Amino acid sequence: MAIERLVEPTMAQSDAEEEKMEISLRPVTFDEYIGQEHLKNNLKLAIDAVKKRNDGSTLDHILLYGPPGLGKTTMAGVIAHELGASLRVTSGPAIERAGDLASILTNLKDGDVLFIDEIHRLRRAVEEVLYSAMEDYKLDIVIGKGPAARSVRLDLPKFTVIGATTRTGSLAGPLRDRFGIIHRLEYYKEPEIEQIINRTAGILKTKINPDAANLLATRARLTPRIANRLFKRVRDYADVNGDGIIDTKIANEALDLMEIDYLGLDPADRNMLRLMYENYGERPVGLATIAALTGDETTTIEDFYEPYLMQMGLLVRTPKGRVVTEKGINHLQNPQIKL
Ligand code: ADE
Repeated sequence: MAIERLVEPTMAQSDAEEEKMEISLRPVTFDEYIGQEHLKNNLKLAIDAVKKRNDGSTLDHILLYGPPGLGKTTMAGVIAHELGASLRVTSGPAIERAGDLASILTNLKDGDVLFIDEIHRLRRAVEEVLYSAMEDYKLDIVIGKGPAARSVRLDLPKFTVIGATTRTGSLAGPLRDRFGIIHRLEYYKEPEIEQIINRTAGILKTKINPDAANLLATRARLTPRIANRLFKRVRDYADVNGDGIIDTKIANEALDLMEIDYLGLDPADRNMLRLMYENYGERPVGLATIAALTGDETTTIEDFYEPYLMQMGLLVRTPKGRVVTEKGINHLQNPQIKL
């Protein structure tokens, strides 16, 4: 497989219009990056130490984990920028064979940062090649088959892997052990989301009044990706139904149209909670059963629906299964779509 299909030299090469927009909204430096202060402080220290030593050593491999949309890819871009390094982007499912990884690794240069999104989805055979690459910058490959097969060891440039995953639990122990820096991205605080919305409004040259920015921040599930998505839909609404300025009236109308309730849940979230409650009441429900009820994959439930519902205390995980909480039941009965 050609390397271009596996690795995007820069994130800015995607042709999807939406992606392009996301990219121009992405902060490039630590100063521009709002929130995740604890993570930023730790990373800044590690980067400053590497720069100060200036002895050819590279930044330790970094594992970032946490729910989707919190800025793992963005942070990888910032780290590369702050290091003055080039960023190569790939993902677990894109690397089909060990040979694909070998071609990525042999095309790296000293100091490069290799971002592997969804690293928990790497195949076992690929993962094993990555072990020695990460540990001692060697590539062990087997040439030939059967009795004639022999193993060769190639030197690799000194690079840094940044792995991103929504779930550390499903990362193999030996792979996890090869990361020197492991951090969880946390949900953002509402004022941080509000700041991100105001920053986005500035970049997209859209006027939003402070109350409207605050309102959107309460509906964005404490997640920048969702904040930016909501912002763009509300901006569309303001352009079509108003004079392009986002005030609370426009924001409320647009949110109602999208059926986003006052906790930021959309119809799919409420549907999942409702199905659980209608079929099982306050009893625990297994993950596979929830997936069967909603028609989603179990991983979709675990990665996309559940983290925020748990963060908001609408759902809890128990050893026997997931349970809708009293707060969840109250919310279902009064989602206040119309404020
Ligand atoms: N856009 C998306 N995420 C952001 C963040 N954390 N800081 C600034 N702008 C962002």
